[in-house]
Amino acid sequence: MTEVGIDAIEIRTGKLRLDLPGTFAPAQGEDPGKYTKGLGLNASSFPDSYEDIVTMGANAAHRLMEREGLEPEDVGRIDVATESSFDNSKPVSTYIAGCLEQVYEGKFSHANKGERKFACVAGTQSIDDAYNWIRAGRNRGRSALVIATDTALYARDDPGEATQGAGAVAMLISEDPDLVSLSTEQGYGSADETDFLKPNQQFPAVDGKRSVQVYLARMREALQDFESVADRTHSDDFAYIPFHTPFPGMVRKAALFGYRHMIRDTSIEDDLAEEIGRQPREEAFEDEEEYEDALREYMDGLKETDAYREWYDRIVEPTLTISREVGNWYTGSVHLARASALRTAVEEGRDLTGERLLVGSYGSGAQAEIHAETVQDDWREKIEGMAASLDEQLAGRYDLSYEEYERVHDVHNHAIELDGDIEELTVPDEEFVFEGWGRMGERKYRFVE
Ligand code: COA
Repeated sequence: MTEVGIDAIEIRTGKLRLDLPGTFAPAQGEDPGKYTKGLGLNASSFPDSYEDIVTMGANAAHRLMEREGLEPEDVGRIDVATESSFDNSKPVSTYIAGCLEQVYEGKFSHANKGERKFACVAGTQSIDDAYNWIRAGRNRGRSALVIATDTALYARDDPGEATQGAGAVAMLISEDPDLVSLSTEQGYGSADETDFLKPNQQFPAVDGKRSVQVYLARMREALQDFESVADRTHSDDFAYIPFHTPFPGMVRKAALFGYRHMIRDTSIEDDLAEEIGRQPREEAFEDEEEYEDALREYMDGLKETDAYREWYDRIVEPTLTISREVGNWYTGSVHLARASALRTAVEEGRDLTGERLLVGSYGSGAQAEIHAETVQDDWREKIEGMAASLDEQLAGRYDLSYEEYERVHDVHNHAIELDGDIEELTVPDEEFVFEGWGRMGERKYRFVE
């Protein structure tokens, strides 16, 4: 059977940077340790006044197409995953295609375009759609462009304000991919939840503490569901485990649950038994609360063992390096985690060809999805190209003062009409920019040479 998966990735960050421990925490009267140690974040990325989900998505897609030497006729499908859309009818992918058609001679008239919504899991769902389209033999040799793009802004003083971010991840999904192939096996954990939603409003209504619990519960179900169709997972099976990363502290919690699950009934559990005992089994308890207490105690012990720490540092920590510097990108976050892990492997000179990743996506509302990926022969070259572009962008970001941050938040707040000219903090250079509204309320874009 033909392998299908990710052929190439390009990442586009918002061009502004907010230092969380240095600038945001003191202004909010908070301890910087909440960011660096608790949430695991150094900085957030924000869009300048001429950037939005379309410009970031189009700029990522443009660089990807340039690097891959693609023309519009090579792309048969453009799917955008976002939870920051500004139109209930016209999909963001049409705007992005319109931008790209300004710089290419060809058109995307043959391409099927859409927009996917299921909170942060929609990017993975779009990859899924592309996978199915190719596997069904409907792609006529063409690839799919999947673009996960978001401005993850919260209302001022919402607890989520600490985890904001903005950026886009463009991915090319192809037959015989150069980067990773996707497993046919998938696991889902899905339930009607109200942990985070935007009922026709720009900023989310969010029950942050509950969303953490819902993430863990759905992820556990997805792992069990995955194991029901694939083999049982073991902590040594995967080179990296990229998770959806709303903030790195969330992944710290998820990884500990995952490790506990994967070592159950293995020699690792046996080896650790002397130090922390064996895992509590539900059937050994009559009282649910006692079982929960015993589990908590076991997890507290497990977290401190050398075996777990070494595993976490090797398998999970490398997935968090990009996220720490840019914050939450909603639909793009899990794809940043994969990119971050592969970039670390390049930096360490590791050969990953043939190794496997276990990828855990999550969207509030709520659904988790787990699948495996196999790293392909040409992964290094693809990641080197992506990393060079990303490093340049990260280093070039404009550092915001707190007052500038407040202004930028207002600029992107749809409910606020600002007086006077909106100041740009950076200078556009060979990129798509937002330039105002048209007569039907549509957004207008142009390419700046
Ligand atoms: N030094 C070290 N750690 C610190 C600290 C300090 N000075 N101050 C706080 N922390 C730790 C806390 O103990 C906590 O860690 P823990 O959860 O492991 O106990 C963490 O930092 C966050 O602090 P907390 O006080 O819980 O932050 P908060 O009340 O502002 O809320 C969220 C955190 C995640 C609920 C909030 O950011 C949010 O609503 N985010 C949006 C929703 C989201 O991303 N959900 C995730 C699932 S999709």
